[in-house]
Amino acid sequence: MTPAPHTSPDLGGRTALVTGAAGGIGRACSLRLAAAGAKVRAVDRDAAGLDDLVGAARGLEGTLEPHVLDLTDLDAAEEIAAGTDVLVNNAGLQLVSPLHEFPPDVFHTVLTVMLEAPFRLVRGALPHMYGQGWGRIVNISSVHGLRASAFKAAYVSAKHGLEGLSKAAALEGAPHGVTSNCVNPAYVRTPLVEKQLADQARVHGIPEERVLSEVLLQDSAVKRLIEPEEVAEAVAYLCSPQASFITGTSLVLDGGWTAH
Ligand SMILES: NC(=O)c1ccc[n+]([C@@H]2O[C@H](COP(=O)([O-])OP(=O)(O)OC[C@H]3O[C@@H](n4cnc5c(N)ncnc54)[C@H](O)[C@@H]3O)[C@@H](O)[C@H]2O)c1
Repeated sequence: MTPAPHTSPDLGGRTALVTGAAGGIGRACSLRLAAAGAKVRAVDRDAAGLDDLVGAARGLEGTLEPHVLDLTDLDAAEEIAAGTDVLVNNAGLQLVSPLHEFPPDVFHTVLTVMLEAPFRLVRGALPHMYGQGWGRIVNISSVHGLRASAFKAAYVSAKHGLEGLSKAAALEGAPHGVTSNCVNPAYVRTPLVEKQLADQARVHGIPEERVLSEVLLQDSAVKRLIEPEEVAEAVAYLCSPQASFITGTSLVLDGGWTAH
């Protein structure tokens, strides 16, 4: 999908931090916010992916500043959020495994990267946002922030926690002009989804080529994956002046999954 031609909202002069910026959704969000004029702090542990992103951002209205950082370093995560006007908590990882076999160390890492790091990033970003009376926090949650699926204990737990963090930030941020919302996509066409096809085939006992239609798209009324650029568009909308009354909520992009 080609990037949206329009560049609203006007984020000229704003600094936006996007975590997991080298991945599918984070990359699309970084490019979208840079197209809107923001100075984007692109954070990821994947240095090569960030290099590639810098190349892709050339010629856009805003600028892109790559930061190689592993978000399990929570002190560094909090520090890098200082001075940001827009915070997009996006970095994530997935492991598909039955609960009784789920490796405790992976559970811990998933919760650290997908819940504790967002808390520390919000904590680091709020003083500047409060000081100027304006800020936007967008948390990339998932349908799995609202619904569970079997074999995703850590991911579902982290996303449900992120929903709570987002709502708490909304309540505290409102008097300071800070909104906090979740964006909740169903399955997006990204490496995170491609990597889980084999695992899903194994735990569900079906061939890999049947995973898309029989597992991933089973509950979606719209039978396709959503593109990262469509998620980025929702993020940009939540940063626009038209969205200033929207806070503490979850913008669901699920092709009808949760309409069941
Ligand atoms: N792909 C989907 O179907 C889907 C659906 C709903 C929600 N989401 C959410 O969207 C977000 C992005 O997912 P994606 O599909 O683009 O995944 P992705 O795997 O393409 O990208 C994730 C990025 O996060 C980075 N990352 C992971 N651990 C990190 C760490 N410790 N420190 C720094 N960076 C780290 C990775 O390097 C990668 O660049 C995730 O929070 C995911 O849960 C994805």
